[in-house]
Amino acid sequence: VALPRVLSGIQPTADSFHVGNYLGALRQWVDLQATHQAFYSIVDLHAITVEQDPADLRRRIRVAAAQLLALGIDPQVSTLFVQSQVPAHTQLAWVLECLTGFGEAGRMTQFKDKSARGGADRSSVGLFTYPILQAADILAYAADAVPVGEDQRQHLELTRNLAQRFNARYGPTLTVPEPYILKATAKIYDLTDPGVKMSKSSPGGSLDLLADVKASVKRIKSAVTDNEREVRYDEDAKPGVSNLLRLLSVFTGASIPELERRYEGRGYGDLKGDLAEAFAAFVTPLQASVAGYLADPAELDAVLRAGGERARATADATVAAVYERVGF
Ligand code: ADP
Ligand code: NA
Repeated sequence: VALPRVLSGIQPTADSFHVGNYLGALRQWVDLQATHQAFYSIVDLHAITVEQDPADLRRRIRVAAAQLLALGIDPQVSTLFVQSQVPAHTQLAWVLECLTGFGEAGRMTQFKDKSARGGADRSSVGLFTYPILQAADILAYAADAVPVGEDQRQHLELTRNLAQRFNARYGPTLTVPEPYILKATAKIYDLTDPGVKMSKSSPGGSLDLLADVKASVKRIKSAVTDNEREVRYDEDAKPGVSNLLRLLSVFTGASIPELERRYEGRGYGDLKGDLAEAFAAFVTPLQASVAGYLADPAELDAVLRAGGERARATADATVAAVYERVGF
């Protein structure tokens, strides 16, 4: 029996992934390899929907790949590839764009948020059609499941609608994917402001996997908490402490109730010190492994090229079927 297929992508838009990316997405990518046939993409086409520097992009693609390999994505088991090496994504995206209503695309809330921040006139059409390219990313591989956080739900719904619309118009061709809902514990907040999500766009409060470990320890020790002294999990009343507990739970394997008991009668300093230690223990070998991959960029590129070839074999077959249906 063939394993169900999963497709997921991550943008190469930072010099390091942060723990939010790890806990919210990449940790699941690693685990899903055991139960799914996985296609994991470094989505560089998506990275140019906003202005980018070519040298940064090229470096970040390799840094992203090195981190994925170091975290445990096995390129022999999963298909790890760079999106721009697979022309089928844009070929399929065009067909899907021609099936998408202008108003329908305009209702995507992420575009509204992002363009509101940057100014609609300065936003690219690529940013506007981004969710349709994302639909193509998924449908090209006939993915059964797509790991999604809350922020991507609407885009997956569009993907499902487009697959169903194509199939209704041209006959059954595309696989309609199901959301694979990520654990609710996955959301990580900014260390300096536990009211906002940790993000590469607010780097001061993020915990980056490749950052200098001493600097990260400092960040953990000065994380914003509250004026009480009780180590207790309460997302609403104690978002900062709860965030630290969630992180410590992941990096030590201890459950949150277990941690609450462990810190009974102890202060935030102890909690932060233990988290700093656990985080350092996690990232120190990881950073060495990433450095190892980056020391041999030719080998790294070869791994990605091999993944790209495997990805092309699958995605090209989808495009061929789609083009045939359309009348090309
Ligand atoms: P960023 O928010 O830093 O721009 P991305 O949007 O590129 O990161 O996110 C890549 C993946 O990491 C997505 O699956 C997203 O849901 C997840 N992710 C990003 N930030 C967090 C966070 N703070 N907590 C949990 N998951 C996150
Ligand atoms: Na984001």
